[in-house]
Amino acid sequence: MARTTALNAAWQRLQAEAERLRHRSLHALFETDPQRSARFARQALGFYVDFSRQLIDDEALKHLLALAEAADVAGAREALFTGAPVNVTENRPALHTALRQQTDAPVLVDGEDVIPAIRAQQRRMGKLVARLHAGQWRGYSGRAITDVVHLGVGGSDLGPQLVVDALKEFRHPHCNVGLHFVANLDGGELARTLARLNPETTLFVVTSKTFTTVDTLTNAASALAWLEVASGLPAAELKRLHFIGISAAAERVDEWGIPADHQLRFWAWVGGRYSLWSTVGFAIALWLGMEGFTQLLAGAAAMDDHYRTAPAEENLPLLLALIDVWNHNLLGAHAHAVLPYDARLALLPRYLAQLEMESNGKSVQRDGTPVTRHTAAVLWGETGPTAQHAFYQLLHQGTETIWCDFITAVRADEWALPDVKAHQRLNLANCLAQAQALAFGADHPDPHRRYPGNRPSTLLLMDALSPWQLGALLALYEHKVHASAVIWNINPFDQWGVELGKRIAGELCTQLEKTEDGTEDSSLAPLLNHIRQVMRT
Ligand code: F6P
Repeated sequence: MARTTALNAAWQRLQAEAERLRHRSLHALFETDPQRSARFARQALGFYVDFSRQLIDDEALKHLLALAEAADVAGAREALFTGAPVNVTENRPALHTALRQQTDAPVLVDGEDVIPAIRAQQRRMGKLVARLHAGQWRGYSGRAITDVVHLGVGGSDLGPQLVVDALKEFRHPHCNVGLHFVANLDGGELARTLARLNPETTLFVVTSKTFTTVDTLTNAASALAWLEVASGLPAAELKRLHFIGISAAAERVDEWGIPADHQLRFWAWVGGRYSLWSTVGFAIALWLGMEGFTQLLAGAAAMDDHYRTAPAEENLPLLLALIDVWNHNLLGAHAHAVLPYDARLALLPRYLAQLEMESNGKSVQRDGTPVTRHTAAVLWGETGPTAQHAFYQLLHQGTETIWCDFITAVRADEWALPDVKAHQRLNLANCLAQAQALAFGADHPDPHRRYPGNRPSTLLLMDALSPWQLGALLALYEHKVHASAVIWNINPFDQWGVELGKRIAGELCTQLEKTEDGTEDSSLAPLLNHIRQVMRT
């Protein structure tokens, strides 16, 4: 009761703050406070986070921090890190932080320390990686594996794919295999990939927490059929030679036929979209080597420590969460753009879209009662330089206010170009220019050429991109999502909203097996009959 009262009071104060600031301009805020740009910036763990172009001031920030306190973000954080069953609808913890813990300090789930099991799986993963690095994994014809195809979708795909793509240049010198990702179930993505590969030397890594996901299992079945046609060997033999299975449901992987020594495990208490730190990150470990993978985990662990211990006013994940709450709940903006000025982070926006929208796209609170405020906003994005020539028009002059995260690495000297500094300067100049243009706008007698300004953004600069820094960046956003969920009093660790579509798809698949016109319900019959007709021709 006291908590509810404190929370309501904090929201009320913030409402008043928002009314006060809504009509102020960023221009005026900077003019009246020459220190603003430094005071609303924080440095930690290789990040420089500048949120001075958010429409807040000291008073508003003070009340945002009070909201976090009233919501007991600190208490919820401890519950998360110590393995309390924070995923209330599935009655289990969400212990992705244990996967990257750098010490062997016990973490208990149902009274059992999970760290030894994590270490055992990491060692097993290391052995499989070493075997591939040494060219000692042989396919059905006796030739060494040259290509690895990661089959997975959602959390079993987006994280590993992002990290491998972002850290291409960090390839381990012994990693001489081609690495491919197939997630979509349309058949085209798999067919295009297989067309470039030799079945004799291709290994498939079937990655699925539940090992029931139809997308991944369909692609795995097609991959197996491709091997069968090429080799003429029985499926059981090919499953033994050409597949690794990664799952939290070992019995289903057994059933599918992948031998135990080619299986890697993780656990129900690792959420899918938080799983890249587990054996789901096998592709990452293959690409970077175990040393590089460990660096990624260490960066994330450093951010865990920061989230858990840094004072609220310095706490990067918490501050980013409060900025979201401020824009979304108090200033009424409903979309959030993530704009990396570093093409290595091209896959970051879609990874964050899952992380944020699958976690926090909820309409009921932890106890099942309706939420009283908006939860996750729409998050999308694209690399900044590409987006400048595509949708920035709307960011600058559209009718919606969209808050933006500009993300880049300051040092990018590694590129082998004659004048890399020129690229670097131009890239940084563009990134900063967009933040300035959005914030301050520009007047013009012609309304078509006028920029209203006052459009909020945050700049996240990293000194350089490395496995460690990327680990810290992803953990920063994970914890931001957690802190926002606590403030909204929702459970970020379930995703019931994705189930209905899966069930209906199953039913429709059966309907589409019929080749003759059917008499399904009126919402579907004409559509299905049209599809059947096209399929018949
Ligand atoms: O359908 C959504 C989802 O369950 C995600 O939460 C998950 O990351 C993805 O599907 C893949 O699930 P799995 O790893 O069990 O195949």
